[in-house]
Amino acid sequence: MVGTLGAMTSTESSLFDQVVNLCKRRSFVFPSAEIYGGFRSTYDYGPLGVLMLRNVKDAWWRSMVQLRNDVVGLDAAILSPPQIWEASGHLDNFSDPLVDCTKCKTRHRQDQLEHQDTCPSCGESGTFTEARAFNLMFKTQAGPVEGAGADVYLRPETAQGMFINFKNIIETSRKKPPFGIAQVGKSFRNEITPGNFVFRTREFEQMELEFFVPPDEADDWYEYWVNERYQWYINLGIPADQLRLRPHEDDELSHYSSGTSDVEFLFPWGWGELEGIANRGDFDLKQHAQHSGQKLEYFDQGTGERYVPHCIEPAAGATRSMMAFLMAAYDEEQVNDDTRTVLRLHPRLAPYKVAVLPLSKKDTLLPKAEEVLQSLQPHFMCDYDITQAIGKRYRRQDEIGTPYCVTIDFDTLEDNAVTVRERDSMEQQRIPVDHLVAHLTDQLAL
Ligand code: GAP
Repeated sequence: MVGTLGAMTSTESSLFDQVVNLCKRRSFVFPSAEIYGGFRSTYDYGPLGVLMLRNVKDAWWRSMVQLRNDVVGLDAAILSPPQIWEASGHLDNFSDPLVDCTKCKTRHRQDQLEHQDTCPSCGESGTFTEARAFNLMFKTQAGPVEGAGADVYLRPETAQGMFINFKNIIETSRKKPPFGIAQVGKSFRNEITPGNFVFRTREFEQMELEFFVPPDEADDWYEYWVNERYQWYINLGIPADQLRLRPHEDDELSHYSSGTSDVEFLFPWGWGELEGIANRGDFDLKQHAQHSGQKLEYFDQGTGERYVPHCIEPAAGATRSMMAFLMAAYDEEQVNDDTRTVLRLHPRLAPYKVAVLPLSKKDTLLPKAEEVLQSLQPHFMCDYDITQAIGKRYRRQDEIGTPYCVTIDFDTLEDNAVTVRERDSMEQQRIPVDHLVAHLTDQLAL
């Protein structure tokens, strides 16, 4: 159950506040349109946020597409005609129950109210209207002529792009079930109650796989993907006591689903979904076949068998996962008399892999520091910082999760070696410049 900020204890809200403050202060995530007073629950990803979000998506793509030979990629359109959403059921069913408070005029999702009859905004009871279904899709118009024929929707999920391209891909990619189509991209939902920072927003990014399998293999592939997806978060540094798999109860399942499990993270306010893995049967392909009049099936030339594949869908949120990775990585520790803030991010997710820090701003060191920087840049995303004392600069890098700092000092000019400092242990090692790329490549193990 996802609570609201108000439901958090002071310790829980302090972790939440610390991460949100860090995100703003160190340019991970900014509230959108801030110079105009902000645009509610919409966020911009700043210089570090864009790097980290890209790393989350790249880590997913690497594991789901690059390291497999049974998954291909797709980047489908965001604007889409109503026929897609009629077939998928979103036009009829993609809604949340909405109630209005007649006293304070606020709107709430009925299924998220703590007390069914009490308004969380003004505290009055018995002031709600009857619940009505509120469709979450954003509708707009395509072209210069307004009218029913011009209606289009911003996609509320990336998944339908895969189903409507199933025929194109099976005819052109030489793939046969079991095989999958993967997509990463923006989705839009007119959420009634966005909130908890980037946990629930109206514009967000998803990472989805539709994995098509022979019907009699569906249950095994479902188990396989549930485990794979759980392990992905663990491998990227989410501690096992902050991650769980939650199989849906029968009354939570969609009518076509024979099994769904959520991967949940322990957010400061409680367990929240990062990803759902669903055993969707042949529902989606059959719906689109019926509505489009096209055959969406697989014909096995070897056996002469023809069937509609079943689909296993691991559907994850990129922006929401990034928030979970930040929450899990945030740490404060006492070092002598000082509190050190450190983001213990997996190197693959860290915005910068290496920071190059000349010990002083003196002209004698800068050319060497820039030479070292340029030798690293083709291999790693690097930061370069020449301001303030070295200790402060180490702390600034710890706070944004940079795994290694490379310091150029006056000895470097004599021995052509640098000091490499590791983020978590703070241990330092002297490494010859000529071995630096190989050393860091080895240590980062990207
Ligand atoms: N195709 C299935 C599907 O879209 P979903 O559970 O509605 O399933 C998948 O969405 C994931 O997308 C969620 O687990 C969550 O991580 C992310 N997500 C959904 N709505 C979101 C929102 N309003 N803001 C941020 N992330 C969201």
